[in-house]
Amino acid sequence: SDWLFLMSFSALPSPLPRLQEKGLFVSELGSAKGRGEKMKFAQFLLKNNFVGGIPKQVERFSKFSPSPLSMKQFIDFGSANACEKTSFVFLRQELPVRLANIMKEIDFLPDKLLGTPSLRLLTSWYSQSLLELIDFLEKDPDDKDTLVNIRNRHNNVVPTMAQGVVEYKEAFGVDPVTNQNVQYFLDRFYMSRISTRMLMNQHTLIFDGSVNPAHPKHIGSIDPTCDVVEVIKDAYETSKMLCEQYYLTSPDMKVTEVNSKNPGQPIQIVYVPSHLYHMLFELFKNAMRATVETHETSTTLPLIKVRVSLGTEDLTIKMSDRGGGVPLRKIERLFSYMYSTAPSPVRVDNGRNAPLAGFGYGLPISRLYAKYFQGDLQLYSMEGYGTAAVIYLKALSSESVERLPVFNKSALRHYQSTTEADDWCMPSKDPKKLGRYETSG
Ligand SMILES: Nc1ncnc2c1ncn2[C@@H]1O[C@H](COP(=O)(O)OP(=O)(O)OP(=O)(O)O)[C@@H](O)[C@H]1O
Ligand SMILES: [Mg+2]
Repeated sequence: SDWLFLMSFSALPSPLPRLQEKGLFVSELGSAKGRGEKMKFAQFLLKNNFVGGIPKQVERFSKFSPSPLSMKQFIDFGSANACEKTSFVFLRQELPVRLANIMKEIDFLPDKLLGTPSLRLLTSWYSQSLLELIDFLEKDPDDKDTLVNIRNRHNNVVPTMAQGVVEYKEAFGVDPVTNQNVQYFLDRFYMSRISTRMLMNQHTLIFDGSVNPAHPKHIGSIDPTCDVVEVIKDAYETSKMLCEQYYLTSPDMKVTEVNSKNPGQPIQIVYVPSHLYHMLFELFKNAMRATVETHETSTTLPLIKVRVSLGTEDLTIKMSDRGGGVPLRKIERLFSYMYSTAPSPVRVDNGRNAPLAGFGYGLPISRLYAKYFQGDLQLYSMEGYGTAAVIYLKALSSESVERLPVFNKSALRHYQSTTEADDWCMPSKDPKKLGRYETSG
């Protein structure tokens, strides 16, 4: 099976061209193995003299660019002749690289944000996980505990980060520049997290030696024939249940499929059903809430209409509600982590069940899931009438490639930008300051 090993490994995107881009010599690739001794974690901390709470290995691994995988490559890792060693060899380099790249960016956050208790906790998780992953380099390929432990350690990253942002906001307020920087960072930070969890999940699910009895055809978390309407119905039902618990009523739904590739056939896609479900569930909750709240006094509720269409390039899902809509001015803000409309955050210790509830992260995180495999999520609203939320996915698995942040000079520039004047005129707020008509005191 040696040639298989080589074959599948060469199918991975070659890290070489990008290593050079980042100004590195190829020989650094192998150097990680040189320090062969097994070390305990405490010794690690001593040896790797932390610089400002960040282990120095961040420097070494952040010099590499992450290697995005395509849906096809994810599937190949899980196919019948998949090699666990290949996957392991890939992960032990790739996970530290992805963590280190995002840790560099964490380091550039404003000190006032980094200093919050939540951020201190969070950066300690990242440091510890990076060190454990480097230790994982020395381990045997059968070890899965390391990955499971790391994944569990990071379960509450989203609410903890959100809590940190709230702490910052309460202490220092929000200004457009900070909002923009935090937005830039969090989109990349949460995307990085989606991707590392995807890698860890795939490895542990595929090589744990068992088949998912409910979904024998799934490859890890990927369904090679994911029936989109089925996921829509699932997400609708769960959201409907919540809506009825809360409002004692809920709008009906109508789904229409337009399969232009195979007319009449159900629309299928190679995708991660849990990601698709997440996006749809968030959109349904929003659409239902808006519908119910704008029709409080009427006896019937307008339908939520969902249309799915499959073209040669895009698979598009459009969800339309008649929930009164949102003015254009506010649309961008709905995707903002800092200007979330949520009244007050739910405590972090709610555990796994409600990690996002109340933070107003439904839309921004859903958009990240869509973007993760080169799709998108957009809102089109008609104030006074309703909203259409559109999810775009790549129809072809060959085009579904991970979209990953990389720490480089362009990224750095975003964190170093200072407060500058807007390059569009601001309408004057004070009509008295209109020049010659102003009475001089
Ligand atoms: N279909 C819609 N119609 C009208 N307003 C909407 C719609 N979808 C979203 N909104 C507005 O956008 C806001 C942000 O939505 P988002 O899902 O990101 O957060 P949330 O629903 O407030 O909280 P959660 O994190 O629980 O989802 C909502 O609070 C709501 O005001
Ligand atoms: Mg929501």
